[in-house]
Amino acid sequence: MNIHEMQQEIIRLKKEKDICILAHSYQAKEIIEIADFTGDSYVLSVKAKSVPQKTVIMCGVKFMAETVKMLSPEKTVIMPNPTAGCPMAEQMDVEYINSVKKEYPDYSVVAYVNTTAALKTIADVCVTSASAVNIVKKMPEKNILFIPDCNLGDYVAKQLPDKNIKLLKGGCPAHGSMRKEDVIKAKEEHPNALFLVHPECPPEVVSYADYVGSTSGIMKYAEESDAKEFIIGTENSIAELLSYQLSEKKFYFLSKDLICADMKATTLVDVYQAVLGIGGGSVELDKDTIEQAVKCIERMIELGD
Ligand code: 13P
Ligand code: SF4
Repeated sequence: MNIHEMQQEIIRLKKEKDICILAHSYQAKEIIEIADFTGDSYVLSVKAKSVPQKTVIMCGVKFMAETVKMLSPEKTVIMPNPTAGCPMAEQMDVEYINSVKKEYPDYSVVAYVNTTAALKTIADVCVTSASAVNIVKKMPEKNILFIPDCNLGDYVAKQLPDKNIKLLKGGCPAHGSMRKEDVIKAKEEHPNALFLVHPECPPEVVSYADYVGSTSGIMKYAEESDAKEFIIGTENSIAELLSYQLSEKKFYFLSKDLICADMKATTLVDVYQAVLGIGGGSVELDKDTIEQAVKCIERMIELGD
């Protein structure tokens, strides 16, 4: 079976079996093409709440599938490749954050959605890169403990100087490894290109940006801009996807090393086997965890609207 035939089979089977396929924008093009909805973490969280199908296949990483399960506990949520996790999400645990909370008792915990379900049970609100500034701005609380990504937290703090934002040392290994030298080199090679960057990159990289935003934000900006060339400061799959979707424009990697192995772990064959019911793994979370953790996701959706 070739790729096209497999895609056709997946489309046929998902209709027959009442399955919705969600795919994060970092997924491979052949998966994006067969998804019912694609987008950034925020778009997918909101979508997950409203899809009518009883089974959802989430192509992305574990925290995304957990978010779908928390918002729709009655649904079967399947990860085509259950090994796909987000290393940042595993960096901090409940014990550590509870110990920090003791030092900062009057601080509200704002958790990036890239966290475990367990950590979300002790967060006051969740945010994504697309919604973080807006949500923290709307919160009445002034003192914020922002976990785990200190780069996204630094970006939020710079936009909202009236808030006291306490940061911890966490972040994305891929975005966090970018340096200003990468930007200088890419700009030297492509002097006419605009630089679009994800706020998971360090401040020294973000400071060069023409636009800072989530994966969907970057894609929308590139589409709507009159510019013809762009350096893309997020996972390299976005520059590849944009080159394909907007073939009249040129897209360059910030660095060839901006790769997330976990986001690349899911293949079309994994999706095919999940739709067939012979592969993948379903997300299981206990009732108490769901009840407690979903509160900060619901608050995110409420404040993010
Ligand atoms: P988005 O919220 O922009 O989709 O980002 C998720 C992510 O994991 C980025 O590395
Ligand atoms: Fe996690 Fe970074 Fe991969 Fe996004 S790119 S899923 S933050 S490791």
